[in-house]
Amino acid sequence: MTIYNLGSINIDKVLRVPHLPSPGETLAARSYAEGLGGKGANQSVAAARAGAQVVHLGAIGPDGGAMLDLLARDGVATDRIARLPVPTGMALIMVDDAAENTIAILAGANREIPQDGVTAALEGARRGDTLLLQNETGGQVAAAEQARSRGMRVVVSAAPFDMAALAPLLPLLSVLLLNEVEAAQLEQAAGRSLAALALPHVVVTRGARGATHLDGGTGESTTYPAFRVAPVDTTGAGDTFAGYLAAGLDQGLDWSRALPRAQAAAALSVTRAGAAASIPGAAETAEFLAKAG
Ligand code: RIB
Ligand code: NA
Repeated sequence: MTIYNLGSINIDKVLRVPHLPSPGETLAARSYAEGLGGKGANQSVAAARAGAQVVHLGAIGPDGGAMLDLLARDGVATDRIARLPVPTGMALIMVDDAAENTIAILAGANREIPQDGVTAALEGARRGDTLLLQNETGGQVAAAEQARSRGMRVVVSAAPFDMAALAPLLPLLSVLLLNEVEAAQLEQAAGRSLAALALPHVVVTRGARGATHLDGGTGESTTYPAFRVAPVDTTGAGDTFAGYLAAGLDQGLDWSRALPRAQAAAALSVTRAGAAASIPGAAETAEFLAKAG
């Protein structure tokens, strides 16, 4: 089947620093790198490297050609990405020696994705295809409504968290992906527990404490242990998890196989610098899983 990903595309501009600067502090960086990022693009690359067929729905500006090439190199279909006369999204990232980061993003073209292009692309989708969403673009609700009416699976990554953006998606989604900070934010904003929200499927990633799958149908909650790695750069790890998980479900894997594979891919991505560039392929991920098991 096909994964349609309505998602951001950023040029990630990354400084490696000894420590994250305090307010008012100036410090010398160790190195600079530019690469493909944006939660959407990272998730498209992850799903494609997991072996899924991916159509990316998004927008870039005149400065985004290299990012498009990087997506295309991974086999992501880029013909539904609009070229707009506004700058491509940008992320200014600092990563320190402890692999901690700070990220500031400027949405640029990501907030101006033409809705009619998204609508037209989803008209080609079939029952059982997947719509993948994060919160760095506009147009999610209309896309999710259309996807539901076409019998698609709707997978939503709640990052970056914003209750106003997430609330209208809750009745439309099939799978919600959250980290534990976002899970707490959602419970606080909704005034009830995740279980009480009665969503079809929720996955909460908890770093070293693993990931929990809540199945709303059976009421069962299953926690999968984390893989231990030495972190180099955690940028995009959540996106790697989301893209791999969406791919696994699309490929018909059980949760008990899709989820550990997504965790393994995310763990591998943390051992390498960069966002999209650090995402492992399916073979490498399978090998890591086999060794760990
Ligand atoms: O999740 C990581 C991503 O967040 C980075 O690639 C950056 O572009 C921001 O969107
Ligand atoms: Na990484």
